[in-house]
Amino acid sequence: MRTIVLRSLVAGIGGYLPARIVTNAELALVLDTSDAWIRERTGITRRHVAADDELTSDLAVEAARRALQNADLPVSAVELIVVATSTPDHTFPATATAVQRKLGAPIGIAFDVQAVCAGFAYAVAVTDSFLRAGHARTALVIGAETFSRILDWTDRTTAVLFGDGAGALVLRAERSAGRLDDRGVLATRLWADGRHYGDLYVDGGPSATRTTGHLRMNGREVFRHAVVRLAESVEALLADTGFAAGDLDLLVPHQANLRIIEAVGRRLGLDPQRVVVTVDRHANTSAASIPLALATALEEGRLTRGQLVALNALGGGFAWGSALLRF
Ligand code: ACO
Repeated sequence: MRTIVLRSLVAGIGGYLPARIVTNAELALVLDTSDAWIRERTGITRRHVAADDELTSDLAVEAARRALQNADLPVSAVELIVVATSTPDHTFPATATAVQRKLGAPIGIAFDVQAVCAGFAYAVAVTDSFLRAGHARTALVIGAETFSRILDWTDRTTAVLFGDGAGALVLRAERSAGRLDDRGVLATRLWADGRHYGDLYVDGGPSATRTTGHLRMNGREVFRHAVVRLAESVEALLADTGFAAGDLDLLVPHQANLRIIEAVGRRLGLDPQRVVVTVDRHANTSAASIPLALATALEEGRLTRGQLVALNALGGGFAWGSALLRF
């Protein structure tokens, strides 16, 4: 007897970057830094920064429209909206409801997921569970951030690292025979370790300080943990599914720092050609970095139907996670 299961298929991908580009050289005019330092330590050459009147939900809506267009689906099909963000428009309601309203999406389920740079891995896992449980057929899973609003622009150790942007996937529940060579999300893994709460955080918030605050980071500690945890997160997916690292067509990692991405690739023994890098152009867009990298890979013809793709991310908390999908 053949077992039929529900599986979440990637039906569409879209990305959106604000028009304004800020180069390293521009930052060096206002901070004690240099293009050479930023490139050498991070691989970043530029970042996009949202206009003053451009909100996280505006970036998310644009990415969502493009993903729906790519999926050839109308807004009316959307039953679930999950937005991964740490820079919501307001403390509440959920930015996902602003996206729902601006898109003109029908009444459905809409909420935010807050796992900082790991937000998209968490959002994919949560959305996949909702779809497989039959709560909705068609979902928008979006990573959208305006980190420019929470940076301390006088702190060279953090201000040079981040950018704004959004990316979206349309995930659709489809009946599947559940084979590993069939399309869809094959496995997800999530972790958090709150002992590192103070290594990467924002020094404000409605309960603690009644302010928004600014991003603070123990960069070396983040770096050290990121390399180990991100590699482990992919190894766990491979162990769960029986694939080998060599079976991966693409690794689409969270884009924090080129040195982290390269170190994880080396640990996994991956050909660098199989690792998608956009941090040079986008900087770290937190929860938006993976869907933006997916959108870029699709545009560049590197992401094609049937490929085995791993995603992985780590961020404040620390929280981290991974997903394996057959595109
Ligand atoms: N320009 C010039 N000099 C700088 C800058 C800058 N923008 N920032 C720091 N420096 C200086 C420091 O002050 C220090 O000077 P000192 O030796 O006189 O004290 C020197 O450069 C070296 O600083 P380190 O912190 O040791 O530099 P490191 O090589 O570790 O690089 C970095 C710092 C890029 C932050 C690195 O630790 C890193 O990438 N960590 C991961 C952090 C990260 O990616 N966070 C993103 C959020 S989490 C995530 O997405 C995974």
